[in-house]
Amino acid sequence: MTETVLLVGGGGREHAVARALADSDADLYACAGNRNPGIARLADGFESLDTTNPTAVTTYARDVDASLAVVGPEAPLAAGVADALDDAGVYAFGPQAEEARIETDKAFQRRFMREHDIPGCPDFETFEDMDAAAEYIDEYDGDLAVKPAGLTGGKGVRVTGDQISKEEAMEYVRESDYERIVLEERLVGEEFTVQALVANGQVRVTPAVQDHKRAFEGDEGPNTGGMGSYSDSTLELPFMDEDDYLDAVDVLEATVDALEGYKGVLYGQFMLTAEGIKVVEFNARFGDPEAMNTLPVLNTAFLDVLTAAREDESLPKLSFAPKATVCKYAVPEGYPDDPEAGAEVKVDEESAAASAESSDGEALLYYASVDERDDGIYTTTSRSFAVVGVADTITEAEEIAEDALAVAGEEGLRIRHDIGKPDLVQQRIDHVTKLRGE
Ligand code: AMP
Ligand code: GLY
Repeated sequence: MTETVLLVGGGGREHAVARALADSDADLYACAGNRNPGIARLADGFESLDTTNPTAVTTYARDVDASLAVVGPEAPLAAGVADALDDAGVYAFGPQAEEARIETDKAFQRRFMREHDIPGCPDFETFEDMDAAAEYIDEYDGDLAVKPAGLTGGKGVRVTGDQISKEEAMEYVRESDYERIVLEERLVGEEFTVQALVANGQVRVTPAVQDHKRAFEGDEGPNTGGMGSYSDSTLELPFMDEDDYLDAVDVLEATVDALEGYKGVLYGQFMLTAEGIKVVEFNARFGDPEAMNTLPVLNTAFLDVLTAAREDESLPKLSFAPKATVCKYAVPEGYPDDPEAGAEVKVDEESAAASAESSDGEALLYYASVDERDDGIYTTTSRSFAVVGVADTITEAEEIAEDALAVAGEEGLRIRHDIGKPDLVQQRIDHVTKLRGE
């Protein structure tokens, strides 16, 4: 039977999902607030709508007679879009709002970890009274991460001793209008992500990825949704060993056991510290950019995972091409603090893809939060497009990504060229070696 899949969301992550479904026996329909030209081209239909409006999404799902749905971003999950689709008889690969709280409510997330003895939980306290929070910061012996409990697109967290001083953190909480915040022990180490496909209590893990949250090269500037990311040809990253990866998998498995009924992607953000791995956060969806590292090397048909999940069958074992990937985002000038929306983006997609032809690798281009109008493609306030190099080594994949960027055209956009370069990867290895006192 041909499946009809509704894809919710219009970013780079969703373009990667669309491509992962493109070769399968599926008719694809998509909806998003922006018209993503890459997704629109792969889909039989594309509807511009507010994806946080459950009725709008289910109405479109019914119109196209969807048999499955994939919900990409967190905002629709928080708004109950998966609940509404499930209620309408369209199996949503994505958790219902209650289970998505593992991402959407950081206070819940930490209490949940404590209650269920999930390994890797840092010291934390939650606050509704911001004066009490400021006092706690003042008295705490050591550095802290200040985290608004609700969604902030990865941009609300402040870490003392890293981005700000304790005094600035106290001012930040006092002057904020956050209703609840989490204060937790500052974790020091190297971050990595492991994403798992989850349904019916089963967990299928994917290779580790390292994202780069800071806006500027050398890990300077404010946090962003992620400027780019890399993965290696194995399940681990060069600064990790197999045990670190397996510890992360244990955390994901323990979390799924405790969550009951979770379906969709469970994304673990980990810090490899001197004391082993700790959990920075969970997300209830694929990472963006991390999906663009993972899905291109997934050899197993993603559609088979979705149908098995829906049919309550055993999820297929995942197989991955033994390839490294490097993803680099082009973002509007001023992103993330003061992004310039409405600038025309001229991307030479064909040249970008062809740029890898003389190598053994592959160059992929993913459109993100751009909007295609009658007269061209325009920036929004978020990330514009990404290129991904796929090759045997991280170094080769990085070179392919750079070649693709050079021909795609990056006028008026900003890129962190350091991502995936040998220097930066070596710095990560040295950092962990030093932490471990080796
Ligand atoms: P989040 O929104 O939870 O992903 O946090 C954004 C970023 O803040 C993370 O990717 C980390 O770089 C940083 N961060 C969050 N929690 C901590 C922590 N406890 N210690 C150090 N850094 C943190
Ligand atoms: N890359 C970080 C995220 O998707 O939240």
